[in-house]
Formats: sequence, structure tokens, C-alpha cells
Amino acid sequence: LSTTDVDISAIKPGQSVTVVWRGKPVFVRHRLPEEIADAAKVNTADLREPETDTQRAKKPEWLVLIGVCTHLGCVPLGQKPADPKGEFGGWFCPCHGSHYDTSGRIRKGPAPSNLPVPPYQFTTDTTVRIG
Ligand code: FES
Repeated sequence: LSTTDVDISAIKPGQSVTVVWRGKPVFVRHRLPEEIADAAKVNTADLREPETDTQRAKKPEWLVLIGVCTHLGCVPLGQKPADPKGEFGGWFCPCHGSHYDTSGRIRKGPAPSNLPVPPYQFTTDTTVRIG
């Protein structure tokens, strides 16, 4: 399938799901207010790949990312409540220690770039179409 529809109605704040789109994991995270605030306050001049949070999230509450580390392709941790989320509260790639922030931007470790944002749109208030 070239598109994947995700029902986001049951994803509570602070929760994430992983869906598959074109054979790749895609993370859909319902961000907490503090995660949104942390992502927004970062000075983009400090970033390896400067992108603002508003460039990456169409709605602040929802972050949609391709869940493949941009170093060598492991799936970063940070989806399950017990997962390590790294030093910047987003995701942590255990393969070689890359840390991503609550916008999925690379902050520390060997990965060269941010977790990519796939094409997506909100087709209803409770549905995200990826692709
Ligand atoms: Fe993620 Fe190397 S594959 S840090």
C-alpha cells in the first residue's frame, strides 16, 4: 500500500504507536505539553540539522516520524513507556548511541540527520494518512 491510515483516537497524550508504511516503521506520538514546549524552545542554531518544531509537526500534539535511525538504520527506542528516551527526551538508538529530541531531531551521537518526517495529512480529526 502506498498510504497507511492511522486511527489516532485511542492514542493518549504521552503514548506512541508504531505503524508500518512502505515497509518501514513510522512512529506516531501524541506529545505531552512539556514535550512540545521542550521541542519549541530549542535554538535551531544549536542543531546539526536545523529544523524548527513547527516545520516538523503539522499539529503540535502529533509527531509523525520514520522510525529508522539515520546512522545505520536501527529502530530507535522511545515508543514504549519503559523505553529509554535518551538525554533529550525523545528517542534513543541503542546501536551506537544516537539521541533524538522530542521533535525527533538528532542532538547527540553519530547519526547525521533528524528522523525524517514522512508525507502525511489529517484526513479527519482522528485519522492520519501517511503517504
Ligand atoms: Fe542508530 Fe548507529 S544505527 S546510532
